[in-house]
Amino acid sequence: MFADNHINFDSINSTNSFALGLKGTSLFSEGLLVTTNHQDKGRGNYGKEWESAYKKNLLLSLVVEPSIPLSKQFDLNIMISLAIYDFLYSLDIICDIKWPNDLLIDNAKISGILIDNVLHKDIIAYSVIGIGINVNQLSFNEYFPPATSIKKCLSEEQDCKLLLNKLLQFIEKRIIDYRKGFDQQQEYNNLLYLRDKEAYFIYKGNKFKGVIKSVKSGLIKIETTNSINKYNINEIKFCF
Ligand code: BTN
Repeated sequence: MFADNHINFDSINSTNSFALGLKGTSLFSEGLLVTTNHQDKGRGNYGKEWESAYKKNLLLSLVVEPSIPLSKQFDLNIMISLAIYDFLYSLDIICDIKWPNDLLIDNAKISGILIDNVLHKDIIAYSVIGIGINVNQLSFNEYFPPATSIKKCLSEEQDCKLLLNKLLQFIEKRIIDYRKGFDQQQEYNNLLYLRDKEAYFIYKGNKFKGVIKSVKSGLIKIETTNSINKYNINEIKFCF
């Protein structure tokens, strides 16, 4: 089903931007996979850039046709986060899932997800699922949280091609399970970074201490000494 149609570049601006640019053509359909060795303008969330050294990492965009209401858009983040979790677990790497788009190992980021949706009314007709996974890169610019890679974890050079095939299998399995009706929400919550631990957050410029309890419908529920509130993706930041 997936990666029936694979376009690979040596270098491109962004695999997500390229895939989105195919909208309206016959190529833009479920199973289209776009990969590259390098991106000139790799996109992260919130307008950030995605750094990746030439040929060192996995950079991919996968087109799927979810046909789910916009209100369920976070289900895609759940499926893909869990698929990357499964993939890393198969390599003996245990990660945390940091709401909403990151996978962390010991507080360092190994992977990020960027999902661009194409809507037909309030239905998600297409999603371009962009995934960056740091594989063989050992040094990174300074970030908060800092970056890490599979090679940093395993101390061994990895074969990106083999890893890509493995990852796609885990993604396909998660999507098929979702379509069969298996709920992945609880599993996602069990793997949430900082769940049930005290941490600091910033909301409207103010720092506060709270405890993450769960994520539901894409909103994160944080408990403080005198309240429980739910926050949207753009409302709250973690303090590192
Ligand atoms: C994030 O952590 O903010 C999301 C990063 C997503 C990066 C990937 S790399 C492949 C795909 N193409 C892009 O331009 N971005 C995503």
